[in-house]
Amino acid sequence: MGILRMAYQHYGLVLSLFLGVFANYWLQEFTNSTDCSVTGDRVPTPTSLPPNEVHPKVNLAGKPLKPKKVPKTFVRPRYYSTELGIRERLFMGIMTTESTVRSLAVAANKTTSHYVDKLMFFMDAAGAEKAQVINLKLPGIVGFVDAREILKPFHMLKYLTDNFLEEYDFFFLTKDTTYINPHLLLDIVKGISVSQDVHSGFLQPYDASLYCSLDSGILLSNSILKRIRTSLDWCVKNAFSDSDDDNFGRCILHASQLPCKNMTLHGKPLETIKIEGTSVADVGKLDVENVLSYFPLKKEKMIYNLHLLLSKKVLNLSNRKLDSMVRVIDSHELAWPPGSYPPKIPATRFDVSPWQYFDLDKIYMTSDFVTVNMLVGAEKEDTMDIVKRTVNWASSQYPELVYQNLVNGYRRFDPSRGADYILDLSFSDNMGNSFIKSFAVCKELGKVEMLPMPYVTENGRVHILLPLYSSDYQAADTFMTKYAHSCSQIDLTFLVLILLYEPDAPGKGHTGDVFKNVKNRAVELSAKKIKDCKITWISIRIPRIDGEDAPMEDHLVHFAMMDLVSKKLPGDSLILLSEPHVELKPDFMNRVRMGTIINKQVYSPIPFSEYDPKLVYVNSTVPNKPLEIHKNSGRFDVGNIRHISFYMNDYLVARRNISYLPVVKGDKDIVKMFSSFDKHSTENKITSILDMFSRSFMSVLRAAEPALRLRRASCMSYPALTRTTSFRRCDAPMGTRSQMGQAVLDLEARNPS
Ligand SMILES: *[C@@H]1O[C@H](CO)[C@@H](O)[C@H](O)[C@H]1NC(C)=O
Ligand SMILES: *[C@@H]1O[C@H](CO)[C@@H](O)[C@H](O)[C@H]1NC(C)=O
Ligand SMILES: *[C@@H]1O[C@H](CO)[C@@H](O)[C@H](O)[C@H]1NC(C)=O
Ligand SMILES: *[C@@H]1O[C@H](CO)[C@@H](O)[C@H](O)[C@H]1NC(C)=O
Ligand SMILES: *[C@@H]1O[C@H](CO)[C@@H](O)[C@H](O)[C@H]1NC(C)=O
Repeated sequence: MGILRMAYQHYGLVLSLFLGVFANYWLQEFTNSTDCSVTGDRVPTPTSLPPNEVHPKVNLAGKPLKPKKVPKTFVRPRYYSTELGIRERLFMGIMTTESTVRSLAVAANKTTSHYVDKLMFFMDAAGAEKAQVINLKLPGIVGFVDAREILKPFHMLKYLTDNFLEEYDFFFLTKDTTYINPHLLLDIVKGISVSQDVHSGFLQPYDASLYCSLDSGILLSNSILKRIRTSLDWCVKNAFSDSDDDNFGRCILHASQLPCKNMTLHGKPLETIKIEGTSVADVGKLDVENVLSYFPLKKEKMIYNLHLLLSKKVLNLSNRKLDSMVRVIDSHELAWPPGSYPPKIPATRFDVSPWQYFDLDKIYMTSDFVTVNMLVGAEKEDTMDIVKRTVNWASSQYPELVYQNLVNGYRRFDPSRGADYILDLSFSDNMGNSFIKSFAVCKELGKVEMLPMPYVTENGRVHILLPLYSSDYQAADTFMTKYAHSCSQIDLTFLVLILLYEPDAPGKGHTGDVFKNVKNRAVELSAKKIKDCKITWISIRIPRIDGEDAPMEDHLVHFAMMDLVSKKLPGDSLILLSEPHVELKPDFMNRVRMGTIINKQVYSPIPFSEYDPKLVYVNSTVPNKPLEIHKNSGRFDVGNIRHISFYMNDYLVARRNISYLPVVKGDKDIVKMFSSFDKHSTENKITSILDMFSRSFMSVLRAAEPALRLRRASCMSYPALTRTTSFRRCDAPMGTRSQMGQAVLDLEARNPS
């Protein structure tokens, strides 16, 4: 009976015993039989290979086979700090009690909380309730239900490992009866590498102690706390001493195998001071250099006095440092004004940031490509402001002089410093003499501000809108082919061709349809391999306006196009307007996804545009490689505002504001749109979709985009119309000055006149 019951209780054991015996037997059988076959047909070793034997050949063709990659969509964590594993520096934990939380803990909070990244207090829950800590404005206070004094440090450790392990590099733990010099503590922590294991504090004074004292504070690195996590049970079971310090020290030593070391700073030992008996008045006599902690303090007054003493010393030190800095600045030729960043020293003559000449209306040579610009808007205001301030300053210095006018103005912007100005102002005195005085003015950069932005991911689908003219067949074909090859399930995109028909061009259903080839190709590619990436098209016929030729390249056509497309795509679609001559890269698509923020921001990349091949590739054939970014092959074309990405809803909202531009519902409305635009009398009419967004509340991100490269469009130009527009592809820059100069010289050499 007994045996049976035992067998029943341990049936699992019995069963596995049985299975084990059986399996052993079975395995033996199996291996025996295999042994047999091996001995019967022994494999010859290479040394005993007889001559003339056929040598085995290893067939390596097509091998090694690459493992098939399973496409993984990468899910970005919400914060970059999570992805990069960035942690804050210092956590400070202070053990407090019911009787001291309202005095000492509050003092610790007031003197320390602004130095450390996080400060928390630990006590038993019942005491916390009695002391009504809820009413105290302490930053974080944790109550433990278990009131056993001896286990308090372990509850604190448990809480830290459960909640803050991934968030701080260092943990400093102490009691509220201790005052910690926060400046020293920060210096210590700053000097330690994150990868170092740290368990330091102050060894207890009695002989051969292995453990540090919580009273003087213990510093643990993240790595040590991680090791403690798994040993907490052991620690609680072995907490047999009366002393917190011993229990705590034993626990850390057991978990980390790293004994506590005395605290040092730059190799110099630091101290802790036991100030029993010292009265508040004596605090001033205490040494404060190299002392990290003072304990035990009975009154909060002591804490405040110590802090005051220390703060005065630190202030004295800072003031002395400032004084010596001022002396250095006076004796050296440092950047003016004092404390500013010095101007950038150009490495070569190509890096010189030039001074731009200005007067009160115009600014000259702002770039290599611009001769003169009117000063308008913010630039005008800035110039007036600078002149006004300088004149005010001058009249305070030379009250006898009367300002006449600005003679010369020079401006230079240095991204590391700010804007520098040189102003030559003319003055007259009361004798009728006139003077010119020169002033240097510096407008330093303001404080950098962080703009909170909504969270975006790289996982949205991009709808690429590609406006095509009938002459674009070749470019469109290349674009579609590349698109079809590169497009995959991961890289979510959707290609919409916008076929722009001229007024009389044969269209749909007609045998001579100018876009027949494009359509066929689109159908062919969509049908074949790419199920995930679709190609579709929308046809728009551009009418004649006022009997002139159709304005094929015009910003209003872009509006008409967007209006018509908006009927077909949902409001949350991410739209990218592009051009057929572009070389698309996945990088670029991701930048579009990250740079475009719904209801907040649109992105307008500045493409690298190829110069005219006739000028660039003189005496050589156009290379068949991807376009390289080089100063001779093209440049970032600031004038190209045809690339822009936005969310459809943002377009619709901003579009509603332009009341003089009726929404296009069909091709016929386009004429109405043009005539309404022309009739509208206000100045400063909308000039592009980009312009529309920059007038709305949306912010516009416009930047040079190296992953967007634009081959030069064959410029079979549309006739110049009387309408002005900045949408003509032929207006792209043709070449560098030297290339164009050379072209002129070559031409003259060929046709000497
Ligand atoms: C504790 O410190 C924080 C931050 O310095 C402060 O906002 C809070 O008022 C302090 N609490 C008390 C009770 O002094
Ligand atoms: C560590 O510091 C304590 C307190 O300052 C001191 O009593 C002790 O001698 C030091 N131990 C070592 C090994 O330096
Ligand atoms: C600052 O410290 C220096 C040297 O220790 C001392 O001579 C001076 O009086 C102190 N100044 C103040 C304002 O405490
Ligand atoms: C192109 O070739 C002509 C004649 O062979 C020569 O004079 C000219 O310098 C060459 N141009 C360039 C840019 O190489
Ligand atoms: C509409 O125009 C007004 C005035 O120009 C501007 O303040 C507002 O932000 C615009 N609204 C939108 C949605 O663009």
